[in-house]
Amino acid sequence: MEVMASAPGKTILFGEHAVVYSQPAIAAAVSKRAIVHIKDTQSNKTILKSEDLGFEAELDTKNKKYILKKGKPGIIRYILEALHIAHNHNPIEITLSIDIPIGSGLGSSAAVTVATLAALYRYHNIYFTKKELAEIAHQVEFNVQGEASPLDTLISTYGGLIYLDRNKELHKINAHINAPFVVGVTSKYGSTSKMVKGVKLLKERFPKVMDPVIETIGDLTDEAKTAIEKGNINKIGELMNINHGLLDAIGVNTKELSRMVYIARGAGAIGSKITGAGGGGSIISLCPGKVDDVSNAIGVYDSTIKLTFSKKGVTSKLIGARNINNYGKNNRKNNPNSNYNNNNNPNNNNNNNNNKKYPTKYTNTNSKKSNFVNNNNSSASNSRNIEKRVNNVKSNNNNKSKIKNNNKDNKKFYQNQNAQPIKNNRKDYAR
Ligand code: MEV
Repeated sequence: MEVMASAPGKTILFGEHAVVYSQPAIAAAVSKRAIVHIKDTQSNKTILKSEDLGFEAELDTKNKKYILKKGKPGIIRYILEALHIAHNHNPIEITLSIDIPIGSGLGSSAAVTVATLAALYRYHNIYFTKKELAEIAHQVEFNVQGEASPLDTLISTYGGLIYLDRNKELHKINAHINAPFVVGVTSKYGSTSKMVKGVKLLKERFPKVMDPVIETIGDLTDEAKTAIEKGNINKIGELMNINHGLLDAIGVNTKELSRMVYIARGAGAIGSKITGAGGGGSIISLCPGKVDDVSNAIGVYDSTIKLTFSKKGVTSKLIGARNINNYGKNNRKNNPNSNYNNNNNPNNNNNNNNNKKYPTKYTNTNSKKSNFVNNNNSSASNSRNIEKRVNNVKSNNNNKSKIKNNNKDNKKFYQNQNAQPIKNNRKDYAR
């Protein structure tokens, strides 16, 4: 079987850092994505590869360890954490393609996490809502980096434009900014946790000064929401410029970021500001009609990316149904992690000693060549096992966002025509 899932990167338009103190924020999905393919393997190892990022690693998903074969680890930790939570630890082959620059403030880790989880859920035929996916993805980010608001994983899941309110409730903004924008990326990696800590320290030292600044960022974000809904592009630009000044005031600006912001404005951007944590990373410039001018001007010193906003959130699909004849005999017999003929596997919930189990619904039961019996219970118990782990994570997730007004989006995320439904009594598992 082969599945694929993809999820967009994001840009924060308004409210970064203030969102950590329960102020609102506005973020948008962008036209760059992470794409994760998962397929069955004949090997007894789980392999993760990314040509785009130049790495290859062998993963021990159960113990959250990896052996790097080439490249740098970076994003691997997010994939490993997602696999640890939502995979049964059987060997698989994972391929990551990504055109979101890593560590640039464009939500690469969230996009990779969301796409990996969606691919795994599709692979295991587990049903989930976007809300559930965003919550687990946030927990993965939290486990890996220690600090994270739910914003990145929410936008990667839902796509479009979202407004996160003061109660961490999510509202989709029913408007689309058609104007293209340019992102300028500094060569310096911006550490979110370091910058968030810096703002916290400043707030503790100067509460009377800093608290109103944070609240003003919140008020400005509310004004921006109205401007976006009314399609008032000039006002959006002006508010971006004010937001940049306030981000400078809370200490997350740098010389490079400032240079890019002012160069962009000089070349015709109507709004230009830091996006994300700052301290490095990126700026965003709204520049209708001036995309090339702004991109060329920033490009003299720094890297630039031309982007558009994207309505498309996470997607997943089944590419190839599992075919029993794809499985080598050796794999079935020798693979220590495999459910095939392996009753020692602690992850194997199958209490029946019948060795001739095939733990999937995608078996060709008519195949005379096959000695394996299609056992849907085994597959369902496999999925339920993962689901249980995922639910444990969900109940521990203390930084949940509440998602409002989007019944449509809360419909179960995929409708897998090829798979048989997993029988259970959960009401929210409606197809
Ligand atoms: C980072 O992309 C945005 C911050 O507000 C931190 C967060 O929301 O987790 C700086």
